[in-house]
Amino acid sequence: MAYRLTIEAFCSGPDTAEALRAAALDRQLAKSRLSLAEGGLAAAIGHYADLPTPQVLVVEETDPALLRARLDQLAEVCVAGTKVVVIGPTNDIRLYRELMGKGVADYLPAPVAPRQLVDSLTGLFADPASAPRARVVACWGARGGTGSSTIAQNLAWAASRHLGEQVILIDLDLAFGTSILAFNLDAKQSVADALANPERLDEVLMDRCMAEYDDHLQVLAAPGDGRSRAAIAPDALEHMVELASRMAALVVLDIPHVWDQWSEAALAAADEVVITAIPDFACLRDTKMLLELLSPRRQGMVQPRLVLNRAENGRKAQLSAKDFAETLKVEPALVIPADPALFGEAATEARMLGEVAAGHKTSQSLAQLAAALSGKAAPPARKPSGGKGLFGWLRR
Ligand SMILES: Nc1ncnc2c1ncn2[C@@H]1O[C@H](COP(=O)(O)OP(=O)(O)O)[C@@H](O)[C@H]1O
Ligand SMILES: [Mg+2]
Repeated sequence: MAYRLTIEAFCSGPDTAEALRAAALDRQLAKSRLSLAEGGLAAAIGHYADLPTPQVLVVEETDPALLRARLDQLAEVCVAGTKVVVIGPTNDIRLYRELMGKGVADYLPAPVAPRQLVDSLTGLFADPASAPRARVVACWGARGGTGSSTIAQNLAWAASRHLGEQVILIDLDLAFGTSILAFNLDAKQSVADALANPERLDEVLMDRCMAEYDDHLQVLAAPGDGRSRAAIAPDALEHMVELASRMAALVVLDIPHVWDQWSEAALAAADEVVITAIPDFACLRDTKMLLELLSPRRQGMVQPRLVLNRAENGRKAQLSAKDFAETLKVEPALVIPADPALFGEAATEARMLGEVAAGHKTSQSLAQLAAALSGKAAPPARKPSGGKGLFGWLRR
């Protein structure tokens, strides 16, 4: 199995750094991302004082007298879920047990060989139940043409930049999805192929069905051929999203404006929901309906975020963004003006807004929202664990 880990390491000397570099070339870790820094455990404490700790943190300490105190300091800045691997000066089983008791994921005495590191790092996630899972963002348009797919695509791209990690966009508009066009993809297989045989769907098949836009963004595109009208089976979708969430740091679902068992289940279970609406009466009604439907099912979870798109100030056919927000009693996360030139340019070039107009206010505000959705800007509340049923991938 290929692990996609984000590993940051603070080494005390060149030998450990060399061993880590060699370990990262191993087949099992080849899809992981390793960042190396000097200065050992002490430097890590300073570094993470105001930065989130990664999925896997490797720290080296050469001084046995300072190891415990420094690890306690590190524990204070470590975010929940980070696995800490310590490389220490002594081969001592009592120390090993003590550190494991404190929540250290593994302890390796120096000098370390690349093989030991590979075994240790992959061992952290060998149990599927402990494998890290990506956050899932579900994007839904309050009616067709609000720009929901465009927003989903841009958020996925911007989040992959922000995180510097893999993001997977899943286009669930089987018949009319635009992801192939928006990213100019050469997609030989699609989300319809992935959903067709859920019992066969595994990481290998997922990999085969996805198209790569760039190093960080993979797209499970919709065939968009008008023929794929097969209804989506909620179980098959749940399995697919679960798999995707083990293969990336963030999963973005582009859910078309349909109301079905699967779309409702996905919107109820996702870590984040983004509703894109045009400030008009139809969108107001449907956004209100969706918020009311989801509210009892998303108790204790992050509330859906509203993007008001294609806003045209002062146009009679539209409500003002302010009226829309006041009627719903929801503050929009973002108001994006109608800008046919900007959106048209991106569409024609099959590029994201951040690529054709990085400095544009709309690109920047989308990047900010993407950062918030990625969970690395401000970790939001989690749904309490427990419970069963559709879309258990959230209940962890
Ligand atoms: N703020 C905007 N200003 C102008 N055009 C936009 C804006 N947002 C989206 N569009 C355009 O609207 C069209 C429909 O967008 P799409 O994302 O396919 O909508 P949906 O998925 O909600 O049906 C696309 O051509 C897109 O480029
Ligand atoms: Mg769409």
